[in-house]
Amino acid sequence: MTPHNNAKPGDYAPAVLLPGDPLRAKWIAETFLDDARLVNSVRNCLGYTGTYKGTPVSVQATGMGQPSTAIYVHELITTYGARRLIRVGTCGGLNAKVKVREVILGIAASTDSTIVKDGFGAYGFAPAADFGLLRAAAEAAKAKGVVAHVGGLVSSDVFYHPDALAAYDRLIAHGVLGVEMEAATLYTLAARFGVEALAVCTMSDCLVTGDEIDADARQSSLSDMIGIALETALA
Ligand code: HPA
Repeated sequence: MTPHNNAKPGDYAPAVLLPGDPLRAKWIAETFLDDARLVNSVRNCLGYTGTYKGTPVSVQATGMGQPSTAIYVHELITTYGARRLIRVGTCGGLNAKVKVREVILGIAASTDSTIVKDGFGAYGFAPAADFGLLRAAAEAAKAKGVVAHVGGLVSSDVFYHPDALAAYDRLIAHGVLGVEMEAATLYTLAARFGVEALAVCTMSDCLVTGDEIDADARQSSLSDMIGIALETALA
């Protein structure tokens, strides 16, 4: 038990999917896992454990943004023994070559967040995905026929920029493909504790072209993304 989690030791599987939205956690558990049971309900930030193809897998909501994500990820690792953490969520597109519905596998995550930037002195830490998970996710996407781009994310603490494209222009010029709000903290904590992490993101809205996913496509795209993440959890 922690202040944010009323699960008991052993309630989580070593592999945990991490959506931001609690109701998406519920949907993932009820749709994709067998024998899913609720393990955390503190603040309605729902967590579940079930099985996927016979292997225990958990799903825990993180809330939005890096401070909230850091709390759940830290406790999943240090209190509950999580060893393989896979974020699933949407991201904004920063490059017109990534179309809505396509997936970005975050090989690295730049950030403006002080919870990542502080603590490394003169050396900016480079939050990076686990190579084995990245490779497994790329293979799973290929097997499912889902277009997946391996590239950089930026995990921003700001959703509503007065001018988002201007805010990210130097990152875009360095090839960063998508913006979301959680991966850099996930990767940093995974590195700190020697565990595996990956962010699998569906591109839902392109900041460059203005394209947005529609409601029907959103559901099937999210299912594709969860399928990739679950295969990666078993890899
Ligand atoms: N910014 C941050 N996070 C996001 C976005 C965005 O534009 N789209 C989806 N998640």
